[in-house]
Amino acid sequence: MKILVINGPNINMLGLREPEIYGSESYADLLAFIQKAAAGLGAEVAFFQSNSEGAIVDAIQAAYGKVDGIVINPAAYTHTSIAIPDALKAVAIPAVEVHISDVSAREPYRRISYTQEACVKTIAGEGFEGYLTAIKFLTDAKL
Ligand code: DQA
Repeated sequence: MKILVINGPNINMLGLREPEIYGSESYADLLAFIQKAAAGLGAEVAFFQSNSEGAIVDAIQAAYGKVDGIVINPAAYTHTSIAIPDALKAVAIPAVEVHISDVSAREPYRRISYTQEACVKTIAGEGFEGYLTAIKFLTDAKL
């Protein structure tokens, strides 16, 4: 199974960025963790990260016909973007939304997710493990 893992703005700053919320491990550490875990599940993963909404939309569109599942942490765009869920609906690739932190226990504006309705599942508050939970869900699911 081919899975595209998309990360949105500031996820490339992991390790430096609010470590009390996101931990001390870097974006490179995250990719290494996902790569290793995915191999154990027999999944082939590709990665994309951008700080730009349009680039994320382009990556989702480019995935059409090429991947079987998407794991997406849209980061702050979760709470603002209509274009990202529209792109996910357009390609109709099963997608799982992931958040490293527990967005439901933070500022009220983080409780709104426009991405959620375009995803088959949302995982939040599991740290890096959440990406693994998402990949497991996609590999287990008969979607
Ligand atoms: C995040 C939560 C978002 O609210 C925030 O804007 C992020 C990261 C998370 O992974 O916990 O950048 O998506």
